[in-house]
Amino acid sequence: MRRIAVINQKGGVGKTTTTVNLGAGFARLGRSTLICDLDPQCNLTVHLGLDPNTVEESLYELFHSKAELKNVARPTGQKGLSVAPASVDLAGLELELVHEVGREVILRDAFDELDEGSYDFVLVDCPPSLGLLSLNALVACDELFVPIQAEFFALQGLGKLMDVVQLVRRRLNPSLRITGMVSCRHDPSTNLSKAVIADIKGHFGSIFQETVIRRNVKLAEAPSHGKTIFEYDAECPGALDYLALAQELLGQKDGAPQSSDTPEAPQTPETPKVPEAPKAVVEVAPADEPVVEPVVEAVVEAVVEAVVETSDAVEADSPKAGDLKTAQTPKTKTPKTAQTQKTPKTKVPQTAKTPKTKTRDAKLGTPENEK
Ligand SMILES: Nc1ncnc2c1ncn2[C@@H]1O[C@H](COP(=O)(O)OP(=O)(O)OP(=O)(O)O)[C@@H](O)[C@H]1O
Ligand SMILES: [Mg+2]
Repeated sequence: MRRIAVINQKGGVGKTTTTVNLGAGFARLGRSTLICDLDPQCNLTVHLGLDPNTVEESLYELFHSKAELKNVARPTGQKGLSVAPASVDLAGLELELVHEVGREVILRDAFDELDEGSYDFVLVDCPPSLGLLSLNALVACDELFVPIQAEFFALQGLGKLMDVVQLVRRRLNPSLRITGMVSCRHDPSTNLSKAVIADIKGHFGSIFQETVIRRNVKLAEAPSHGKTIFEYDAECPGALDYLALAQELLGQKDGAPQSSDTPEAPQTPETPKVPEAPKAVVEVAPADEPVVEPVVEAVVEAVVEAVVETSDAVEADSPKAGDLKTAQTPKTKTPKTAQTQKTPKTKVPQTAKTPKTKTRDAKLGTPENEK
């Protein structure tokens, strides 16, 4: 079972749309998939036609040990796709669990309790913040999938995310790695989009997916019908893009990229029905290697420490987390991957700065070319 958190603390970049439709794409390709709504906004829950005000067993009850994941998960209108909904009460969870020891590993434990073979994929839709809920996703999952929108502020957010991932790896989940990044609401016609994507590719290399998700109004309409894009309009560009993305992540994609502005990325190899973790991964710096400026690190430390305050108790538990994760998904580092990893390791803090010049150049230098 691959456990993937769809995360980016920047709001509105396409996390929920990607979780629903990538999950639906996996299901369409015969992989049983569970999508979890970990966002108090409950957008994913609503997207699938459920009412977060009245839903009976939700992830909220799971966090309070009042429900098991196998009971929270329920089928959707699409074959092979299940959903673990959120309820509006999730908004108060962080305060309610403030004295709960080990509250950052609740979701991980719930995933571990699922029967072997229940699902091929579990996808988690994270909120646009890095609090307790996102931390649970970072601890419970082995892989991160990062939707981005190709604009300047996207890069600032990525730098911070890398810092948090590094801390979580060091303290709670050594097997965590970023395995994918996709451009959502992609508009290939602007110079800004090209400059930002070129810059991100420069840092993250082949984890940046060849497939892009084009801007398509059907993707915005589908939630109001409580349907995945495949149920709503299986032939629209949005459905084709998410199916292509699912195929690419399964190593099945043989078609050409939809967008000529996207440079070629190496194809991933054929994978079995329940694929192993892909080779192309970016890992942040090793635990002992400082990659962030002290002030930034202090802020990020505070995020994690605010949650993991009972360090002794957690330390006693964490080796289990690390051991368990490592045992489940042994790292598949290749020398090539190790090289890829070096760039973001040391240059994360610059990520936010680099495009500034490029963006301005693109904007000011060639205004007539901007569409
Ligand atoms: N490719 C697309 N084309 C058109 N509209 C899109 C596309 N992807 C997402 N949207 C729309 O953009 C809005 C934001 O998308 P979404 O809710 O998936 O982002 P998010 O990152 O989950 O947001 P939040 O951070 O608030 O959770 C939604 O209205 C969604 O329908
Ligand atoms: Mg969302």
